[in-house]
Amino acid sequence: MDVKIFPTMEEAATYTVKYFQEALHKGADVFGLATGSTPIPFYRQVTQSDMDFSDKIAINLDEYYGLSNDHPQSYHVYMHQQLFHKKPFKVSYLPNGVALDVEAEIARYNQILQEHPIDVQLLGIGGNGHIGFNEPGAAIDGQTQLVNLAEQTIQANSRFFDRVEDVPTQAFSMGLGSIMQAKKIILLAFGEGKADAIAKTVNGPVTKQVPASILQNHPDVTIVLDEAAAAKL
Ligand code: GLP
Repeated sequence: MDVKIFPTMEEAATYTVKYFQEALHKGADVFGLATGSTPIPFYRQVTQSDMDFSDKIAINLDEYYGLSNDHPQSYHVYMHQQLFHKKPFKVSYLPNGVALDVEAEIARYNQILQEHPIDVQLLGIGGNGHIGFNEPGAAIDGQTQLVNLAEQTIQANSRFFDRVEDVPTQAFSMGLGSIMQAKKIILLAFGEGKADAIAKTVNGPVTKQVPASILQNHPDVTIVLDEAAAAKL
């Protein structure tokens, strides 16, 4: 793992923009994208750049189960607001949170991933070490699944909803096995609330209890941190 530590989130985001520019330059076609508050400075800088994704493919990690594509807290709306309205991709895929046939939706997403191997996967990390919505205990070789969110995740994400009861308790998520298939992975983490998870991810044992620790087994992972997130390394 290549760990990069920056004084501020903005500098970390600038590094991440350069990383994506280099990947584009080298011909990357398929970008795995993430949501949450962490990538927002990166997406903002991308929208202000001259990067062009109009012939590229975006595949998002996850979507809340039960939220329609136009729900304000859906990851569909997030991606549109943070990135796609200014930087459209040729095609952008997200799981359909209101799919009636769960198994068919899982099969559809796995098929997309099979047809479009991810060149660069962007990740955030949960305070409990989750990536995508792969919570502690998730199968190391898992593909797309409908997962139950950990209580810690529901509490953490309740800041985006009016009431904690409004936070969906399930989500469609690419599995750890799908994430590990990406050719390159770049994980961002900012703030002291991520310091424990980052220390376990980088220096701890590879364990299902810290899903991000599986990234130690990937040959091309870059971890981009601010000083607070790096404090326990
Ligand atoms: C969310 C997302 C993850 C994200 C993580 C951290 O629940 N499913 O993809 O990395 O939790 O979110 P944040 O960046 O807001 O701390």
